[in-house]
Order: sequence, then C-alpha cells, then structure tokens
Amino acid sequence: MSKFIIQGGSKLSGTIEVKGAKNLALKIIPASILSSSPITITNLPNIEDVNKSLELIESLGGKVERSSNSCTIDTSNIKNAKLDNHLAGQFRASIMFTAPLLARFGKVEFPHPGGCVLGAGGRPIDLFLDGFAAFGAKISLNERSYIIEAPILVGCEFFFNIVSVTATESMLMCACLAKGTTTLKNCAMEPEIIALANYLTEMGVKISGIGSPTMIIEGITNINAGVFDVIPDRIEAGTFAIMAALTKSNIKITNCNPKHLEILLNIFKKQEIVFETADTSIEIFPTETIKPYGIKTHEYPGFPTDLQPPFTLLATQANGTTLVHETIYDQRLLFTDMLNHMGADIITFDPHRVRVTGPTKLYGHKLISPDLRAGITLILAGLIATGTTQIDNIYQVDRGYENIDQRLKALGANITRVE
Ligand code: UD1
Repeated sequence: MSKFIIQGGSKLSGTIEVKGAKNLALKIIPASILSSSPITITNLPNIEDVNKSLELIESLGGKVERSSNSCTIDTSNIKNAKLDNHLAGQFRASIMFTAPLLARFGKVEFPHPGGCVLGAGGRPIDLFLDGFAAFGAKISLNERSYIIEAPILVGCEFFFNIVSVTATESMLMCACLAKGTTTLKNCAMEPEIIALANYLTEMGVKISGIGSPTMIIEGITNINAGVFDVIPDRIEAGTFAIMAALTKSNIKITNCNPKHLEILLNIFKKQEIVFETADTSIEIFPTETIKPYGIKTHEYPGFPTDLQPPFTLLATQANGTTLVHETIYDQRLLFTDMLNHMGADIITFDPHRVRVTGPTKLYGHKLISPDLRAGITLILAGLIATGTTQIDNIYQVDRGYENIDQRLKALGANITRVE
C-alpha cells in the first residue's frame, strides 16, 4: 500500500492550479448514459474515482477515449443495465449510474455502493429508492443487489426529506427522460448541480428553478450530447486556501471560482486572514495571528462538510477556542483523535461537536488516512508538524486529489510518495 512521508516545516510559496470538480465529474460521466450520442468532457480531474467511473462505463459496454484531463464517452452500445458488483461496491459515486440507466433502459441492477463510510449505519440510499418509486418504479432486492424496474418513468412531484446532493442529481436525471412534468422540492443547490442542470438544459431538457430548492423539469424522449467543461473544484480550492493560511504562506490559487467559496472567505475575514480575490483566483498572504471562528456545516451555500476537516486543523493554529459543529455526517470528526496524537487540543462533546483550543504545536506521527477529506487534512497537518509524518492508505487521497504530492512539492513541500 502506498504512503506519504512528510517532513514538516518547509515554507511554501507560489501558484497552484485547481483541477476540475470531482463531485461534478462523477455525475457527468454517468449522465453520458442519458444520451446515445457521444459526449466530450474537458477539465476532467485525473483521480481514482474518475478512473473507476470510466471503468464502470466500459464494463457496461460503453466506449471511452481518454487523455489525462479529458475524455470522450460513447454509450450507444450499452445494452446492459447491471452494474458490476465488484467495481460499484468500491465507490459511493457508483450510485450515480442508477438513475441514468433506469431512465434509458427501464431497469437497473446494482449493489449497495461503497466509498467513504461517514454515517453510523453507512451511507443510506433510501432517498434514491423513494425517488425511483415516486417515478413509478418497482423496487426489489435479492441477496446482493437492488433491482429497479420501470418500463416508463412517469413525471411526479417528489420532496426530499433530507437535502442530498447525489439524490437531487439522480432525480433530476430521471426527470429528464420521464413522461411529463416533474417537480423536485427541497433540492440541494450546490454549484455542481447547477452546472449539470445547465448542461441538460443545453441538451434540450426544459428545467426551471435551477439553483433554487424547487426544480420543475419537462421530460423529453431524446437528449443530445455535446462538450462539457467541468467547473473548478471548490473543495480543492478551499483546501489549498486553508493550507496557505495554515502554513502562513503566500500562495495563489488559480483556475477557481471564489464565488463558490463565499462562506469560507467571509470566515477568513473574521479570522483576519489576509487574502485577495480576482475572477478566477484567490491569493492568500501570510498571517501570523489567526483569530478563532466557529463553524457549523450546512448544505450549499453554507459551510461545506468537505472543508470541515481542514478547517478544524486550521483551528488548532488559531489563537483561542473554536467550536466545530458537523451536522451532515456523524463520523466526520473522528479524525480529530489523530490530530490530538500530533499534539492538538481537541475535546469531543459528541459525534457532531468538538472544541478546538489553539494554537498548539503539532509533532510528526505515523497515521492512516481514514477517508478522502481527513486524508488531505493529515497531509496538511504533516506540513506544519515538527519532524516526520507518515500517512498510510493514501489511496483515499488519490481518489479525489490529482497528483497531490507533485503539486505540493512544486510549492516547496517536503513530501515523498513511497510505493
Ligand atoms: C455529496 C458529495 C460529498 C459531500 C456531500 C455533502 C458527491 C459524489 N459527494 O455526497 O463529497 O460530502 O454531498 O455535501 O457529490 N442521505 C440519506 N439518504 C440518502 C442519501 C443521503 O439519509 O438516500 C443523507 C446522508 O447520510 C447525509 C445527507 O443525506 O447525512 C447528505 O448526504 P448527501 O448530500 O446525499 O451526500 P452525498 O450526495 O452522498
């Protein structure tokens, strides 16, 4: 298993370019199934979860032509709507294949999806099943798979009891090929959902309310396909901004959209972190004393749960106490134990709330990356720790951050990948 060895304390500086958004790439790849015409995807991040999604397309019978940051997908030859159990079981975003397969073929068979386990009972898919049923699908379950069948999807009114990114995107995709009008209520509003909905509109579907909690979709029978440029990854951009503040470095983050990080940048102002934004970049300047500022994770445009782990690390270097309230997942604060092993002062009140007191010196440690966002956070912790940090199970980080070691090295970090 690969690992990273990090010698802490190097000063970082320079420019780092943000890659395409993982959480959009993982939706537009399966969305290619909605149309039998080929789609070209540009600004595609070269990450493990994208590789897995493209493998899944191929395992279904689709054709993929790939260069490192783009691909063309032709799904005209897909005949089979059964997801490979082994592949799909390896990553959570395999669930994104279910709606487009159901919408195009009237049937889909899939295992419970894998990926980061962040909730006490794993990550549920009840919203998907309820949504499919609302479109008229019949749901059955055998030992290993869910089987969803609906020769015709019928437009419906569906209310999401929990605001969910992937469930919103999935029901949007069903609605595109459903007969009649669908009204989706209490939708998630993430920029990646807006980008997907805008693309589907360009491809001929009528969608109103994009970017609001209620979307109304008029289904059509044939969806076109064209070129799709993946928007920049706001989570990667935010992580790099936090890294710059944490390491007290001057770093310019390019190819990003600062408007998608409004809440983080507002909080930076409160913390007296010095930065400047332009249309597609954020430059962070070294700030000696960082003020504490509490956060509560929330669906967009609130504080993203995916930035909570690096922000919690930043709080260990702020001058005072910070309350971190994680509302989305109940296992997303467990990694704070590892920060405590490194010297942090973090007290857990309950699975959703911790109090961080800073600033504390961190010391190198041997750690295992538990999941994607905690994994990148441990790397950042290693950058400011005294001594050597070893992080095992870095596959978890490669799932979502392209070539992270080389990109951090280019800024001056002392990080080595050991295979
Ligand atoms: C997406 C993102 C992930 C991010 C998360 C929250 C992708 C590939 N992943 O994950 O990076 O952390 O949004 O911003 O886009 N839930 C249910 N039943 C369901 C589905 C979800 O109860 O059927 C719950 C989840 O357990 C969680 C909440 O809804 O508590 C939000 O999860 P959701 O938005 O669905 O997260 P994902 O879409 O899986």
